[in-house]
Amino acid sequence: MKSSLKLIAIALSLASTSCDNSSKENDTSQRSDKTKLMIANTKLARDPHTYSEPNIARVTHLEWDAVVDFQNHAIMATAVYDIEVKPEAKRIIFDINGLHISEVKVNGVATGFEIGPNSKYLGEPLVIPIDSSAKKVSIVYRADTAADALLWVDGEKPFLFSQSQAILGRTWMPCQDSPGVRITYNARVKVPAGLLALMSAENPQKKNETGEYTFKMEQPIPSYLLALAVGDIEFRPIGDRTGVYAVPSVIEAAAKEFEDMQKMVEAAEQLYGPYVWGRYDLLVLPAAFPFGGMENPRITFATPTILAGDKSLVALVAHELAHSWSGNLVTNSTWDDFWLNEGFTVYFEQRIMEAVYGRETSEMLATISRNELDATIDQLTKDTMAVDTKLKLSLEGRNPDDGMTDIAYNKGYFFLRLIEETAGREKFDSFIKNYFSGHAFQVMDTERFLTYLRDQLVTPDMDKIVKIDEWVYGEGIPSNAPQVSSARVESVNEFVKKWDSKQQLSTVMDIPWNNWSYEERYLFLSQIQRKDFTAMKEMDNAWAVTKSTNKEVLFKWLENAILAKYTPANDEVEAFLLEVGRRKFVEPLFAAMIQSGQVKMAKEIYAKARPGYHSVTSDTIDALLAGVWKGE
Ligand code: BES
Ligand code: ZN
Repeated sequence: MKSSLKLIAIALSLASTSCDNSSKENDTSQRSDKTKLMIANTKLARDPHTYSEPNIARVTHLEWDAVVDFQNHAIMATAVYDIEVKPEAKRIIFDINGLHISEVKVNGVATGFEIGPNSKYLGEPLVIPIDSSAKKVSIVYRADTAADALLWVDGEKPFLFSQSQAILGRTWMPCQDSPGVRITYNARVKVPAGLLALMSAENPQKKNETGEYTFKMEQPIPSYLLALAVGDIEFRPIGDRTGVYAVPSVIEAAAKEFEDMQKMVEAAEQLYGPYVWGRYDLLVLPAAFPFGGMENPRITFATPTILAGDKSLVALVAHELAHSWSGNLVTNSTWDDFWLNEGFTVYFEQRIMEAVYGRETSEMLATISRNELDATIDQLTKDTMAVDTKLKLSLEGRNPDDGMTDIAYNKGYFFLRLIEETAGREKFDSFIKNYFSGHAFQVMDTERFLTYLRDQLVTPDMDKIVKIDEWVYGEGIPSNAPQVSSARVESVNEFVKKWDSKQQLSTVMDIPWNNWSYEERYLFLSQIQRKDFTAMKEMDNAWAVTKSTNKEVLFKWLENAILAKYTPANDEVEAFLLEVGRRKFVEPLFAAMIQSGQVKMAKEIYAKARPGYHSVTSDTIDALLAGVWKGE
């Protein structure tokens, strides 16, 4: 059998300590069918962000046939699902959002269906009548420009990519769009000749003449990890299990930037056990990609803004790679448990960074995390949204996107780090390793995790030190948060003080900017208070920051420039926002314009930039500017 399948079987046999595993048949294909059944039979918690009823009728496998039409920005597809149904099942429900459904069949026979009322964010329920004999449901549909997951980038060589997390999968694929519902899938995708298609699956490495590609995902994955990209894409191997995909103009730079990818995979496996997904590749997307990275199984989707030329922003790769365990293997039960995906992933990311680049680097990154966490807590508290500073969220009735803040990431990170420091690294590492292997291909919710944690690692005495409940169910950051320690951060802080007080610096040249890493530069720019026009000019003259090629540094600089009305950077602000659609950069820059009273500038730039943004980013900026227009 395929080594990847063998690994799932191993992971699952490890997982099934509490199940009766007495039948020891050697037919491994049967074993993997049993595995799927076991997954399909697990009772799932209620998820307020799906219409589906997976405990009554659940999808287990998908055969997807699709044609990608760049002219009309549309995908025409047939989705044939294998389903598992309870004897009492009368219907199966799919989530859809903006899809045009033209035909539905159950066990090959055409049937009527109903589409319920549309609700914001959630879309519509597609309700299909069935009885307990139903085994296959096929849906013929079309996704057009209403598909919020998709971004079509026009040009001589057009590009298409999807972003399904959190609940946009349903805008391009009828699905039971809840993180606990896992499917395997095969796909056949037809794209214009000259373009390559990629999915979160076993992928081609070369274009072919016909433009027809086939895909296979043998491990069951949740719908938020369904992904598709189409473009003039090339491949370069890095190690025997790793490689990069990118457009020709970027491929060389990408191969160089990510040359440590295989080392990262090895470091990750060393820490927390085998990588079970086969290959780990990375696709560099157009700059309009609304996120830094997305952990699509077997192929991370990434923003080109991490191509700094010096590998300084590869922590993002460590992060998305870490999701191959935290998130893709052990998956948050609902979006209320998002910290189980992201907090674990930031912790794991940091450990990979420490292993590959050393403790000083990972501690500088931890300092940036802490500063960002403090800022997020201040902001949420100011916005009277302090409830969202709890690790366990309550997102019912809201867009899950509202809960996707720094809290899950960085408060989650510091919580896990506190447990590590209290229990000791060795014990903690073996706990995490068992946690991943023991819950592979399963969902986890906060309560079950805490029970497991107290069972396996944290004694009542340790709990008195850690204060688990305060971290998970309390607001803000508890006073026992771990202290980050880095000599280089302390040195930067000294220069920040000197810069702000002015007296102790004879000239801007006393600041060792040119010897600083990205992290030091970023920490400096994000902490200085003296950043008026004159100060900005002085720094720019000395270090040409407006011309910075590191997009993180450039972003921080431009934010300062907007707030200071440092007009020599205005052209760069506009160029940056027209090129980059990454929400983490775009939102603060528009917010800075509003905050500094430059609403006209914001509107003018946004009018030009908006058509190029993905819905994730434009929805956020629409809301930001709507607030201003209301206030006018
Ligand atoms: N899974 C997230 C991205 C995401 C979260 C998309 C929620 C949609 C909803 C991904 O792993 C991530 O966290 N990306 C970060 C980068 C990371 C280094 C913190 C990002 O995009 O900035
Ligand atoms: Zn993440």
